[in-house]
Order: sequence, then C-alpha cells, then structure tokens
Amino acid sequence: LGSPILWAESRASTNDTALELAEKGLPHGAVVTAGEQTGGRGRRDRAWASPRGGMWFTVLVRNPCALRHAPDLTLLAALAVCRSLRSQGVPAWIKWPNDILLNGKKVCGILAQIRAEGEMVDHAVIGIGLNANFPIDELPEDIRHRATTVLHETGSPLDRPRTLAQILTEMDRLYRDLRDGRGFEAVYAEWTSLCATLGQAVEVAVGEERVRGIARAIQPDGSLVLETAPGVTRIVVSGEVLFSER
Ligand code: BTN
Repeated sequence: LGSPILWAESRASTNDTALELAEKGLPHGAVVTAGEQTGGRGRRDRAWASPRGGMWFTVLVRNPCALRHAPDLTLLAALAVCRSLRSQGVPAWIKWPNDILLNGKKVCGILAQIRAEGEMVDHAVIGIGLNANFPIDELPEDIRHRATTVLHETGSPLDRPRTLAQILTEMDRLYRDLRDGRGFEAVYAEWTSLCATLGQAVEVAVGEERVRGIARAIQPDGSLVLETAPGVTRIVVSGEVLFSER
C-alpha cells in the first residue's frame, strides 16, 4: 500500500477524491492525502474537522475480501493505527469498532466506504483522520471535551511521514492476511487486549435505535456482545458507541 501517494495542499475530502478516482482506474494501494480538508466527512454524516497539522488520508483497496468480511477492513485499520502510535510511545486504545482513543478522548476516526459486486467487495476506500499536530482549540468547541490531538496529549509532535509509512505497512500486512482468509480472527486476541470499550457501561447507536448495556466481549467476527440486562445479551454487528462511563 502507498503507491502512488497523491498529495495535495487542500482537498474537500480525501474519501471523495479516492472514490472518484477509483472509478477512473486508480490502482489498488493508492493513497489520497491532503494537508487540510475543507469538507472532511465522519461517520453518520457528520462533518470531520481537518485543519493543517493533522493526518488526513484515504487508502484504496481493490477486491480486498468477501462482503461478509467488510467490517474487518475498519477493525484492522484501527489496529494498524494503534500499533503505529504505540510503537512511538503513544498509549493509544481502540474504542469499538474503529475509533482510536488517547487518554480517553478520540484522537482518530476511520470512515470506510464499500463498493460491492455480488458477494465480493469490489473496492473500498478506507479514510483515516488522525488528529496529530495541532492545538485542540482548532477542534470545534462542542467536541473538545471528548476529542483531542496527539500534540495536546503528549506535548510533542508526531513524525507524520514515519507514522503514515508505519500505518500503511501494518495495513498491508493485515489486509494480505484478510485476503488470504485470515482476517480479524487472526489478530482477535491482540485487538481485544487493546480495546478500551470492554467492561464499560455504554450506549450504542444501531441505526436509529439506542441500546444500553455493558460491553462484555468482542466476538471473533468483530461483533460486540452487550449485556442489556442481567443475563440478557444482545449482539451488535455494526453500531457506534455514543458514550461510555470512562
Ligand atoms: C469518524 O466519524 O470517526 C470517521 C472520521 C474519518 C475522517 C477521515 S479524514 C480522511 C478521510 N476523508 C474524509 O472526509 N473522512 C476520512
């Protein structure tokens, strides 16, 4: 992954550019990145603040896996980011399914967009937004209590080229395994050990529905097991943890 890398000072959204170029034959492994985004997008149709100093990039993968394994793409990307940050002494954690937390606050988000052909993923763009080297007052005021930047938490800037190279190397390794049929299950133990969500009382958005419970386990297929009442569990395949006690 990482060939070519298409850099621009400014883009509306690296995911949008990658989706557009994917239709025009951009090859597998290409990375679209930008110094800043003017229309960065998050999950659930939210805006994603993307000032200069952050890392905003999107990886295009072609025929990565069967459609039923599509959720693995983001789970594995989260692991790649977490590994890279930890190797640099930044104590990152994963918030299920694919946010990265630093000192309990969100420092990175991942937005995967999938284009399927029958039972296969034809191509996917995996957008990664890492709040690296800018002061938190550049984040919108309403999210400052739950979002942060690496610079703010550690006091020193992240080496962005090195971090990008590391994340791409890790993703490459994990996605090759996924393509060969060893997806999330192969790294399940490591992933679970880095997951900050387990054991917490959480509220999860599942579509329009809100489900409360205690996050008891992640299953080998990546789904979350919630205990919604004593002895009653509910499996959430895809959703977003809205709040947690920590
Ligand atoms: C989330 O809501 O947590 C996902 C945020 C994803 C942001 C990244 S930044 C690079 C790429 N381009 C976008 O417009 N979004 C993703």
